Amino acid sequence: MDYFIISRARVDSQRDTMINIQFKGIAKHYRRRTILDGVDISLQDSQCTLLCGANGAGKTTLLKIMAGLVRPDSGTLNTGLGEMKWRRCIKALKEKAMYMHQQPYMFDASVRRNIAYALPPMLSHEDRDKRIYEALAWANLEPLATASATSLSGGEVQRVALARAWLRSPSVLLLDEPTTNMDHDARLRTHNLLRQLKDQGMAIVISSHDALQFQSLACRQLLLKDGKISPVNTITQAENVSAFPINPLQQHQQV
Ligand SMILES: Nc1ncnc2c1ncn2[C@@H]1O[C@H](COP(=O)(O)OP(=O)(O)OP(=O)(O)O)[C@@H](O)[C@H]1O
Ligand SMILES: [Mg+2]
Repeated sequence: MDYFIISRARVDSQRDTMINIQFKGIAKHYRRRTILDGVDISLQDSQCTLLCGANGAGKTTLLKIMAGLVRPDSGTLNTGLGEMKWRRCIKALKEKAMYMHQQPYMFDASVRRNIAYALPPMLSHEDRDKRIYEALAWANLEPLATASATSLSGGEVQRVALARAWLRSPSVLLLDEPTTNMDHDARLRTHNLLRQLKDQGMAIVISSHDALQFQSLACRQLLLKDGKISPVNTITQAENVSAFPINPLQQHQQV
């Protein structure tokens, strides 16, 4: 069996099923250069957003702000408790969101131990083993369980990072170029895994240069350009970025 689909009751119980997070007026400057200029973006459960933009457009910066890892110069955030300054919500944001780096960090240990790192420390040995086994099976990583994580290929490393994300089960998963190092088959596998996470209610944001690749997965495509964000619904709007029509039913007033 290629994929191991595990009952999500346990995982879902750890996560809010209703996600509605709104970022407003997010601005970021680096050395007087405006990277983000009043970006408004909202995230909902079971929504997959594709974030496109040229090199240096600010995609990674925006993902890290949404994960609570980079501080914006201004902007507010509403996680359901009213509109607040970003810094007042940073704890809630870090609890809800998880950022997956394009080149995820691996400890110098086995794949198994790298996955175990995502588990809470208070688990019994038995529960720990069970959950690691489930994560390995989910990501089809069983054959690599005892391999050294630092010797994995780029695509395999990204899959280990996804298995960690599955274990952590955040409300919001922010993926920075998640399939860059992957071959065709590995991409398809990853799309399948991401679809499962989306179907389970996770809000997913993917930063990618390759919009067509995520066509069947994404509910909407946003373009980051000159510090502003806008929905992409025609090929002309996307300019050099490959585009696909967004489903009007899933298009939001505020992107
Ligand atoms: N810590 C930092 N200090 C100074 N400049 C930064 C910093 N982080 C990012 N930048 C600059 O901000 C701009 C946006 O960077 P960012 O990494 O967000 O772009 P990106 O859209 O993710 O690009 P890519 O497609 O190449 O990954 C770049 O010009 C980058 O050099
Ligand atoms: Mg980037």
